[in-house]
Amino acid sequence: MSAFKERDLFPISTEILADGTLTIAGCNLSRLAKDFGSPLYLYDGETIRANIQKLKGAFSNYYPGNSAVAYASKAYLSRRFAEKIAAEDIELDVVSMAELQIAVKSGFAPKRIHFHGNNKTAEEIHKAIDLNVHALVVDSMDELMFVEKIAATKNKCVKIWLRITPDIRVKTHPHIETSAAESKFGFHVTTGEAKAGIQYALQSPFFELTGLHCHLGSQIFDPVPYRITIQMLYDLASECGYTPSELSPGGGWGVQYSIKDPVADPSDWINNICSAVVEQCNKNLMPLPKIVIEPGRWLVAKAGVSIYQIGTKKTTPNGLRIIGVNGGMSDNPRNALYQAKYSAVVNGKITEKKVFPSRIVGKFCESGDTLIEEIDLPETDRDDLLIIPVSGAYQLSMASNYNLAPRPAVLWLESVGNFELLQYRENPEESFWWA
Ligand code: LLP
Repeated sequence: MSAFKERDLFPISTEILADGTLTIAGCNLSRLAKDFGSPLYLYDGETIRANIQKLKGAFSNYYPGNSAVAYASKAYLSRRFAEKIAAEDIELDVVSMAELQIAVKSGFAPKRIHFHGNNKTAEEIHKAIDLNVHALVVDSMDELMFVEKIAATKNKCVKIWLRITPDIRVKTHPHIETSAAESKFGFHVTTGEAKAGIQYALQSPFFELTGLHCHLGSQIFDPVPYRITIQMLYDLASECGYTPSELSPGGGWGVQYSIKDPVADPSDWINNICSAVVEQCNKNLMPLPKIVIEPGRWLVAKAGVSIYQIGTKKTTPNGLRIIGVNGGMSDNPRNALYQAKYSAVVNGKITEKKVFPSRIVGKFCESGDTLIEEIDLPETDRDDLLIIPVSGAYQLSMASNYNLAPRPAVLWLESVGNFELLQYRENPEESFWWA
């Protein structure tokens, strides 16, 4: 048996067995949950590698110039995970000292690292400059002056990009939109700060302005705002007499979380970025830049699944069936924060009729602790395993210890009997900071 309705949301190597249970990379999910406990998070190595190749392939198809795919490591990072993806010949976007340190320890040469952030500390700026990262992505005029001061003390010329904010709206949840006039990120175009930043950076002996960057937001399914932004970046560059040798339109391409979501092919995104850059270079008589995209979610979300054990079940006076699982907003705050909608299956009952509209809630002391607002499920029993696909991005990286919950274990799956622990389950007896 290989097909079921939600199949396309799961990692490539997922199989359904005759008893209605799932395997990923040949590993039995019930067995893993038994051995490692739940909640449990899994990453499928094959899916991550295929996703990287898909994006690189799109660049080979659509762009005659140089390009790079960088992984936005805030989506999920741990030491072993970073080592795995460092082997895949991609670049890395980091935003904190710890992400930077893990990246370097895991084999990312600093020339493959871009350091982002809207309020970098002096310590972070010193470290990024001392390591000679590929680009320190400067976020404001204030920060430009601050970085210049630090660079001057070292008498160093620092490779920078400027993050430009186009002051346009994109269609996504407001908490993950970063393109608009009220955004805390970047040099805004409409205030004139973007132009002033470029002009300032060009005349400073302490900067080599290698590129311009923009990140519009996340879960975006429309390539048009990327085209508009690229045109805006070239208009700005040309006004300043500047030719960028690198151009980064950021990440943000959306993924399907449930079968009701739109399916958007990232080749279409990359095709639009490439053709807009070529068009602008032709118009402005500039050479093609190296294009650097930096997706987080698109590379890892679908490679990840989370597994929970079902506990209590109740029906509210208005007939809502509520099913409690042994994790929740502490390992996945995305419904609480963005009303994100997920899909789920019950292991062993995947092909059974889904006749019960249900709400999946966590075990934490907060009414907003919901994983799925409404989903049709078959009859469930205590100890059944609920498997939520598309769990690889911004779940564990935003996890908390609310109610002193231990963060779950994470495994990387390769093939039958070939998996690795990426992150151990926190142990309240030993590894907790409050113990
Ligand atoms: N580049 C920059 C500068 C970013 O700030 C981000 C994400 C990315 C790239 C990658 O974006 P992606 O391709 O993953 O959409 N916690 C939210 C998402 C926050 C994204 C933050 N920045 C969520 O769970 O939806």
